Amino acid sequence: MRALVTGAAGFIGSNLVERLLADGHDVVGIDNLRTGSTANLAAAEGAGAHFAFIECDITAPELVGLVAVAHPEVVFHLAAQVDVRKSVADPWYDARVNVLGTVNLLEASRRAQVRRVVYAASGGSRYGRPESLPVQQETAASPVSPYAAAKVAGEYYLHAYTGLYGMSGVSLALANVYGPHQDPHGEAGVVAIFGSALLTGRPTAIFGDGSATRDYIYVSDVVDAFVRAAAAPAEVAGTFNVGTGLQTSTLQLHELIAQAIGVRARPSYRPARAGEIDAIALDCATTVSTLQWQPRVAVREGVGRTIEWLRGALAASPAV
Ligand SMILES: NC(=O)c1ccc[n+]([C@@H]2O[C@H](COP(=O)([O-])OP(=O)(O)OC[C@H]3O[C@@H](n4cnc5c(N)ncnc54)[C@H](O)[C@@H]3O)[C@@H](O)[C@H]2O)c1
Repeated sequence: MRALVTGAAGFIGSNLVERLLADGHDVVGIDNLRTGSTANLAAAEGAGAHFAFIECDITAPELVGLVAVAHPEVVFHLAAQVDVRKSVADPWYDARVNVLGTVNLLEASRRAQVRRVVYAASGGSRYGRPESLPVQQETAASPVSPYAAAKVAGEYYLHAYTGLYGMSGVSLALANVYGPHQDPHGEAGVVAIFGSALLTGRPTAIFGDGSATRDYIYVSDVVDAFVRAAAAPAEVAGTFNVGTGLQTSTLQLHELIAQAIGVRARPSYRPARAGEIDAIALDCATTVSTLQWQPRVAVREGVGRTIEWLRGALAASPAV
């Protein structure tokens, strides 16, 4: 299969590129390198003619010609402005990338007669503050930030293009993803942030009292969901939750990370950040039955693998 991955130099995108290449596919990666890095594509660059990277912004007019030349069967759309707080500070920029960029890509995709688009939706933000957990994927979207609103808009555009043009669109509403290539300087990658701090002897701080929970899912399980979504029958379309259904508190996660590193560490506590939800976990029963997908990596194991990767990355480049 010929695949095009937007956000290819980012955390999840670069892991997806590696998996697609390992499965024997030809991959074109697109990224404007705003938060991503070509260092994440070092393994992919070894795939020779099977992989090409193009530095391009998804909002650029030239994207249309570029997708036409790449002529992919499947487009994986992961490029995004991913910072919730930035979306509050600058909702125009967030909407430009996450809404208009998505429309630009969908236009390019339908003109290039792409068979399927698989979109990285946000399961952590699309449901707002759900009344019961784990949240069912039939639950109505209730975005409470510009980021969440723009990501849901992307799902709706994909739904519209599926109906209009027969292009099959699958949105994967991802829980909190962690694993190798996550940016420890980012806003959301708490495993990478705590992990790099504890590995280098720096203090850690928790916003709130540490009891807030998230559904942490390891990146290889997420990548597997993208691969299965691409291969699913044409009639499979819509939004599917991708998480574990389990909740881990920030304090439990901190403890798991400290154990994986082999240190005893006490975090400091800061006031909870405005707008943060208390708890989230995603019910994935429909995803399991429709995509024949299962999360396989338990959080303790995934944290261990991530710390191993971080150790190597820190040894190679202490700036990490
Ligand atoms: N990480 C998570 O827990 C999580 C959870 C839910 C959804 N998602 C979604 O998954 C996708 C990937 O997220 P990630 O965690 O890998 O973040 P990331 O920041 O590592 O990856 C995003 C990539 O998109 C690129 N990009 C940003 N703006 C662009 C533009 N205008 N044109 C081209 N490229 C652009 C960045 O340079 C980066 O490489 C995003 O769509 C995000 O909304 C992530």
